[in-house]
Amino acid sequence: MNILVTGGAGFIGSHTVVELLNSGHSVVVVDNLCNSSREALRRVEEIASTEVPFYEVDIRDREGLERVFALCSFDCVIHFAGLKAVGESVSKPWEYYDNNVGGTLVLLDVMRKHGCKNIIFSSSATVYGDPAVIPITEDCPKGKCTNPYGQTKSMLEEILTDLHTADKKNGADAPWNVVLLRYFNPIGAHKSGLIGENPNGIPNNLMPYITQVAVGKLDHLTVFGNDYDTPDGTGVRDYIHVVDLARGHVKALQAIARNCGVEVYNLGTGRGYSVLDLVHAFEEANGVKVPYVIGERRAGDIASCYSDPGTAWKELGWKAEYDVVDMCRDSWNWQKQNPNGFEPGQTK
Ligand code: NAD
Ligand code: UD1
Repeated sequence: MNILVTGGAGFIGSHTVVELLNSGHSVVVVDNLCNSSREALRRVEEIASTEVPFYEVDIRDREGLERVFALCSFDCVIHFAGLKAVGESVSKPWEYYDNNVGGTLVLLDVMRKHGCKNIIFSSSATVYGDPAVIPITEDCPKGKCTNPYGQTKSMLEEILTDLHTADKKNGADAPWNVVLLRYFNPIGAHKSGLIGENPNGIPNNLMPYITQVAVGKLDHLTVFGNDYDTPDGTGVRDYIHVVDLARGHVKALQAIARNCGVEVYNLGTGRGYSVLDLVHAFEEANGVKVPYVIGERRAGDIASCYSDPGTAWKELGWKAEYDVVDMCRDSWNWQKQNPNGFEPGQTK
């Protein structure tokens, strides 16, 4: 298929471009490089031994997108572009609604004008809020999102679903096909160590914080609370290797190809690891120490969150292949090789 990848220079996008190319798809990337670098795509080209057409376009820029759609015809858009820092979204809600919701509305409008009504969307387990039952299945009711970032994911799921519903009701010849992928906690990196997660400033998420402590950029990890109702008192999450996650997108194209309507899939491993499990797994996998202290709970955190990924297995034949040791090894390999990551916005 001919695929447009928005946000394809970012963490998950760059790994997905590699897997799409490995599977024989043609890929065009648009990204405004607000949280990524041209260098990431150069390295994708190195890994895949092929050129990747790239347009530095903001998805809110209608004319810019029009130009890309005029040059190429796409079978599907895989839509990663968006802002993703939960804390920042609380202090800058307008920017998050403008970029994530506003940008997606422009993208959808340009897509339909050009006859492409197939989209795979990066959603998040955050839409479940604090789930009543774990492991979480896709029919678990959506919960209250405590921050604007989560709200944008939830709203966009509704908007995309409404587009399909309206088309069906109106008897459209080619209704929208929408795959909503709810990611759990992506970590790890490509095994080459050429691409990986490139957080801006001090990381908010656990694994990049661990790797930056291990490499000596940060002094110690603060574990956010050890009094949760979990086996060791620290928060439990479903960490998934970013390459497995990327392959989930390639598999999701099967749903698009069979005109799926709206489908929702959890992309996780189905296994929960606590903060201390991950710290110890990292230390053992890599033979390095990660000093930590126990601190206060972080506002908005929940005790446990892990997936039932069975639907993706049954319907797409997808399941995660990598385990926590692979994730820890590959995250460390990337960090060691790139202690300073890429400069966001680097275009040369
Ligand atoms: P990332 O920041 O590395 O990648 C996002 C990319 O989108 C970046 O390259 C950025 O420059 C680009 N971008 C942002 N706004 C844009 C705009 N207006 N126009 C064009 N490009 C724009 O993040 P990621 O971790 O790769 O996440 C990808 C997607 O997955 C995001 O939508 C994110 O919300 C979602 N997601 C991520 C996680 C996670 O833990 N990483 C979890 C759940 C969902
Ligand atoms: C966070 C976001 C979520 C988003 C996801 C992926 C919050 C409240 N949630 O999820 O909306 O979809 O990232 O981007 O920000 N931890 C520490 N010390 C640290 C960092 C984290 O103990 O320095 C703990 C957390 O309390 C949690 C676990 O590690 O128990 C994982 O945290 P993190 O990597 O930030 O992911 P989530 O909180 O699951």
